[in-house]
Amino acid sequence: MASSQIAYLALIWAFVVHTAALLPSYIATACPITIDGRIPSNATIQTFDTTASPFNPTYTKGQNLTWSQIIKLPAIRPSKFDLPVHAKALEVTINDSSIFVPGGGSPQLGFRRAGLLLGNGSDASNVGVKTFHWSVKQDLDAKMNLTHEYMNAWHEADDYASNQFSFNTGVMLEQDKPADGNVSTTGLDRRLWKFLDRENDVLWTTGIEWDEWQNFAVTVDYENNTLQIYYSEGYDALEAVTSPISNDNSGGGQFQIGMLKKPTETVSVVYDGYQEQGIYEGQIYGGIFIEDSSSGCTST
Ligand SMILES: *[C@@H]1O[C@H](CO)[C@@H](O)[C@H](O)[C@H]1NC(C)=O
Ligand SMILES: *[C@@H]1O[C@H](CO)[C@@H](O)[C@H](O)[C@H]1NC(C)=O
Ligand SMILES: *[C@@H]1O[C@H](CO)[C@@H](O)[C@H](O)[C@H]1NC(C)=O
Ligand SMILES: *[C@@H]1O[C@H](CO)[C@@H](O)[C@H](O)[C@H]1NC(C)=O
Ligand SMILES: *[C@@H]1O[C@H](CO)[C@@H](O)[C@H](O)[C@H]1NC(C)=O
Ligand SMILES: *[C@@H]1O[C@H](CO)[C@@H](O)[C@H](O)[C@H]1NC(C)=O
Ligand SMILES: *[C@@H]1O[C@H](CO)[C@@H](O)[C@H](O)[C@H]1NC(C)=O
Repeated sequence: MASSQIAYLALIWAFVVHTAALLPSYIATACPITIDGRIPSNATIQTFDTTASPFNPTYTKGQNLTWSQIIKLPAIRPSKFDLPVHAKALEVTINDSSIFVPGGGSPQLGFRRAGLLLGNGSDASNVGVKTFHWSVKQDLDAKMNLTHEYMNAWHEADDYASNQFSFNTGVMLEQDKPADGNVSTTGLDRRLWKFLDRENDVLWTTGIEWDEWQNFAVTVDYENNTLQIYYSEGYDALEAVTSPISNDNSGGGQFQIGMLKKPTETVSVVYDGYQEQGIYEGQIYGGIFIEDSSSGCTST
């Protein structure tokens, strides 16, 4: 073997050792995947404008924006369930142009939103027992303004009248307090992530981490009508942070993940209220997938 070849092999070996030391130990998923929202390592920004995207390329975003304008692929360590073949994190961003106009409807001037949709509302993620996974990380150059309420991940029923669960933060609007007056959301610290059930009752909260991945999962049992929440930080194993809690999981629907920034000083929430100008905000996501937990299995 020529010495140049040996030097080359030594270089590759050094690279392998170096890379192995840098990468976190990835966690394989344990259960059958129903819908995979993890980003293939060969995806580019343009992929999100096409049907090769794991998400719906058309919804839910500013009327005059494309997903390739909204999504960034930040060069950071991927989250724990992003196996080497799914090596990319993605960032969803909003700015003043993030105004959604539903087909045949009025512009949602109250919101600034960009939400990735998984599934079509009548697929296998709506039957049996499924666990919805996502990890989130903060972009310190594109922070949320927690004077506003944000809804960042939720499962919206097919009639759009309610969400089986939602994952919010910021100052909760008076309009979003539980109809049954049970656990008031409005007095909660703005810096908490808030997990809400179908009635908007708060099931569980935890603080926003500014430096680490935060990993969330929720098991939705459509047969027995319960929700159970799991959580961990960094590359730690998920742990159940609630027991299965009764919830009305009927009505089908879709999982949406991204950012929906609500206005302040609003009456209708959707169409009026105050949004400051000149915003640029983002949430970095990874490890988005829905798995089959009907055999009692949950990836942790
Ligand atoms: C990525 O690679 C897979 C498998 O080779 C292929 O099916 C897919 O079309 C590729 N995607 C892009 C965006 O190139
Ligand atoms: C929002 O971002 C898009 C994509 O970068 C850009 O084209 C658009 O001009 C921005 N809108 C505003 C109001 O800055
Ligand atoms: C999109 O662009 C059209 C044409 O310029 C404009 O009339 C419309 O108001 C824009 N929509 C939003 C939400 O800014
Ligand atoms: C939704 O997706 C599932 C699985 O891909 C498919 O079987 C079903 O026909 C789709 N439904 C609609 C209304 O497109
Ligand atoms: C409040 O909501 C929680 C969660 O939905 C439920 O377990 C509890 O029974 C409710 N309490 C009252 C007083 O309604
Ligand atoms: C649903 O509840 C029934 C009765 O309590 C129980 O036997 C069954 O195992 C539950 N199913 C799941 C998927 O937990
Ligand atoms: C946060 O939002 C409020 C209400 O829109 C606004 O008055 C305030 O200037 C914003 N703060 C920052 C730091 O952007």
